[in-house]
Amino acid sequence: MLDLLYSRHSIRNYSDQPVETDKIETIIEAALLSPSSRNRQPWEFIVVTDKKVLQQLSMAKPNGASFLANATMAVVIAGNTEKSDVWIEDCSIAAIIIQLTAHDLGLGSCWIQLRERMHNENTSSSAYVKDILRLPNHFEIGCIISIGYPAEGSKVNLKTKRSTEKVTRI
Ligand SMILES: Cc1cc2nc3c(=O)[nH]c(=O)nc-3n(C[C@H](O)[C@H](O)[C@H](O)COP(=O)(O)O)c2cc1C
Repeated sequence: MLDLLYSRHSIRNYSDQPVETDKIETIIEAALLSPSSRNRQPWEFIVVTDKKVLQQLSMAKPNGASFLANATMAVVIAGNTEKSDVWIEDCSIAAIIIQLTAHDLGLGSCWIQLRERMHNENTSSSAYVKDILRLPNHFEIGCIISIGYPAEGSKVNLKTKRSTEKVTRI
C-alpha cells in the first residue's frame, strides 16, 4: 500500500493510448466497492470516453479542468442528495479509490473539483455538467476524475517520507 501511495501523483498530461476495456471495468468495480455511510451508496459514476463530451466537461470551470480535454477517459462522480446527507464524504472516498485503482493499473489520474465551483458568473460547474449529462436536479457533481496513460516525460514531484508534526499521539 505504501509503495502505491508514494508513487501516485496527479497526472494532467495524457498520451493518446486508449484505456483498455478490462481496465475501465476494474476501475468501475473498485468504485462500486467503496464504503459509504449507512451503506447508502448515494452515487452515480458516469464513465466518459467520448472525446466530444470530455471536451465539453473540460470547460466546467475556468481553471484547473482544461486538461480533461486530453484525457482518454473520465469518471464523473455525482451524489444523490436525496439518498444521503453525507454524499460529499461518500463520493470523495469513491474518488480516491478510483485514483488509487487507476494508479495500480498503470494509469495516471487527477481530481477535478466541481462542488462549490462556478462554470461562469451565472452557472455553477455542477449545473453545467448536469445539463451535459442530463442528470436530474437532486444530483450534485462532487468531482470528475480524469484518467489516461501518462504522456511521455510527465513531470511529478517525487514524494518523500513526510514529517510527523501533524500527528499527535496521546
Ligand atoms: C479535493 C481535491 C480537489 C482537487 N482539485 C483539483 C482541480 O480542480 N484541478 C487540478 O488540476 N487538481 C486538483 N486536485 C489535485 C491536487 O492539486 C493534488 O492532489 C495535490 O497538488 C497533491 O499532488 P499529488 O496528487 O501529485 O500528490 C485536487 C485534489 C483534491 C484532493
